[in-house]
Amino acid sequence: MKGLILAGGSGTRLRPLTYSCAKQLVPIANKPILFYGIDSMTTAGIRDIGIIVGETGEEIRNAVGDGSRWGVSITYVPQHAPLGLAHCVLIARDFLGDDPFVMYLGDNMLEEDLCGLVAGFGQDPGRDADARILLAKVDDPSSFGVAAIGPDGWVERLVEKPAEPPSNLALVGVYVFTSTIHEAVRAIEPSTRGELEITDAIQWLIDHGNAVEHRIIDGWWIDTGKKDPLLECNRLVLDTITPDLVGEVDDLSTIEGSVQLSGGATVTRSTIIGPAVIGADAVIEDSVVGPYASIGDRCRLEGVRIDHSVLLPDVAVSGPLSITDSLIGRHAEIVHRGDDDRHRLMVGDHSTIEIG
Ligand code: G1P
Repeated sequence: MKGLILAGGSGTRLRPLTYSCAKQLVPIANKPILFYGIDSMTTAGIRDIGIIVGETGEEIRNAVGDGSRWGVSITYVPQHAPLGLAHCVLIARDFLGDDPFVMYLGDNMLEEDLCGLVAGFGQDPGRDADARILLAKVDDPSSFGVAAIGPDGWVERLVEKPAEPPSNLALVGVYVFTSTIHEAVRAIEPSTRGELEITDAIQWLIDHGNAVEHRIIDGWWIDTGKKDPLLECNRLVLDTITPDLVGEVDDLSTIEGSVQLSGGATVTRSTIIGPAVIGADAVIEDSVVGPYASIGDRCRLEGVRIDHSVLLPDVAVSGPLSITDSLIGRHAEIVHRGDDDRHRLMVGDHSTIEIG
């Protein structure tokens, strides 16, 4: 089985970070989101992975490389415009050949690994399925593709972002296909949003007598494309970390709970409350960090209280300042001068500032 990871999207809902960083490379617990998808495929035994890349392709290639770090082979497939998930299958035809494959949206995170979700696909002696979709019960199905399941347990109908959802079962961004999907993606027309929808391609399979099975996922699933879900995902992943203190902690500092402190990081006169991760060569002074803080490599925090936040590398914050629920991009600088109560800002396009 092959893997196809979709990492072509431009991440408009995570601007301004995504002006300079591919949304799939934004870190969760100091590791790029995309790497979790590659890890998950590797754990499921997939060794041949294609990645669809768009305008941030070069950055993704630089970060992921040829896959040798995971012991897998990576093939990059450039997509010149975001023309839909089914378009990704269309342009990956040569890479995929006639093999069955798992398609995974590069900004989605799942608690479960893919092992159980892909196991046994195509091995049903009764009626082989041509696709397997993963579904999650959600409160707001109209924001997703939604599935209707028939009395026999097979998928009967799929609708993309329906005003009147036929169920509360949303399509999770992971799909398993046989090569029959290639015929489907060639046959469908673009949707009203101008994209070739994978939902329509799967509906085409059903309409042409092919069986589509489903699995309902047990664990959490998050589309990390916006700030708050991304921070929520950071919390969920930090809850699973094992403590690992490599950096230096002075006698006046305390470490509580599960904390990872990378090599070269220093903690002085501070409290770190886990779960929290602190990247290499970070400097933490007179601060309280955590819980649920991911601090990137080389960040400098002085006199800061920070929790429930993600800082990319090279951020400098000097307080007294209290920061929560924040996502801060590389090389950002936040300084409290304290000489008057006015704010002096140089803020990138599409930034958000909420002052308490
Ligand atoms: C896409 C799919 C949708 C699915 C969702 C999962 O939506 O079209 O069916 O439920 O991913 O994240 P999009 O993120 O393109 O709006």
